[in-house]
Amino acid sequence: MRGQAGARTSGRGGGRAVERSRGGSERSSGRGGAASGRAVEIELTVNGDPHRVSVRPNRTLLDVLREELGLTGTKRGCDQGECGACTVHLDGRAVNACLVLAIDADGSEVTTIEGLARRGELHPLQRAFVEEGAIQCGYCTPGMILQAAALLRRNPTPTSKQIREGMAGNLCRCTGYAKIVKAIGKAAEVMRGQRAVGPGRGSLAQRRRDAEGDPEAQPGPHSSQLRAHSSKPRSLATTRTKTGRAS
Ligand code: FES
Ligand code: FES
Repeated sequence: MRGQAGARTSGRGGGRAVERSRGGSERSSGRGGAASGRAVEIELTVNGDPHRVSVRPNRTLLDVLREELGLTGTKRGCDQGECGACTVHLDGRAVNACLVLAIDADGSEVTTIEGLARRGELHPLQRAFVEEGAIQCGYCTPGMILQAAALLRRNPTPTSKQIREGMAGNLCRCTGYAKIVKAIGKAAEVMRGQRAVGPGRGSLAQRRRDAEGDPEAQPGPHSSQLRAHSSKPRSLATTRTKTGRAS
């Protein structure tokens, strides 16, 4: 998985690679390797709002979004292009913000999870994730949803297999992936106008109703999938149980 994700995500960075040492210090390739450097001003349009930010050459787009602009919906997971938690749209393309140097994003348009809802209405993907119970801790969810939005823009009618392949660079430690795939498929139908928005069988509302008659069925915050997970997250595209059922 690591090799697969690395190969994909290096292509999603959209700019020069950011190298980080194990100790957490960082330097940018092609920039003289200096951890510090003279700050430069860049301009970004983020979720429709223009920003001018002063950044050092080694800072990433993720650093700017979270630390300069306070947009903490974009999550920092691995910080190495492996997990997809930091996925945003850069000029309409899904990228790992931890792999994009901020100076390379100068003049670009960025969309984060904070910019997806319109006029107080959740994006169909956001609604579907809630309704299908595809969120537990939620840490992976912003990146999942931004990646899924880019996928549905390219392919409005994806099969489950295509969803799994398109989401292979985004890892979840909690939910398993079946509900995530289902939510993306449901959102695709809603966005094509073929389905009214509403809770499905896997929704929180439905599970609460089910649980009323069965106290044991009440899901905990991380429920059985988390207990069943190994400590290493699995890829959505590659995970299958011995019975052939996707988890
Ligand atoms: S891929 Fe960027 S934080 Fe993991
Ligand atoms: S819901 Fe995906 S990491 Fe927790």
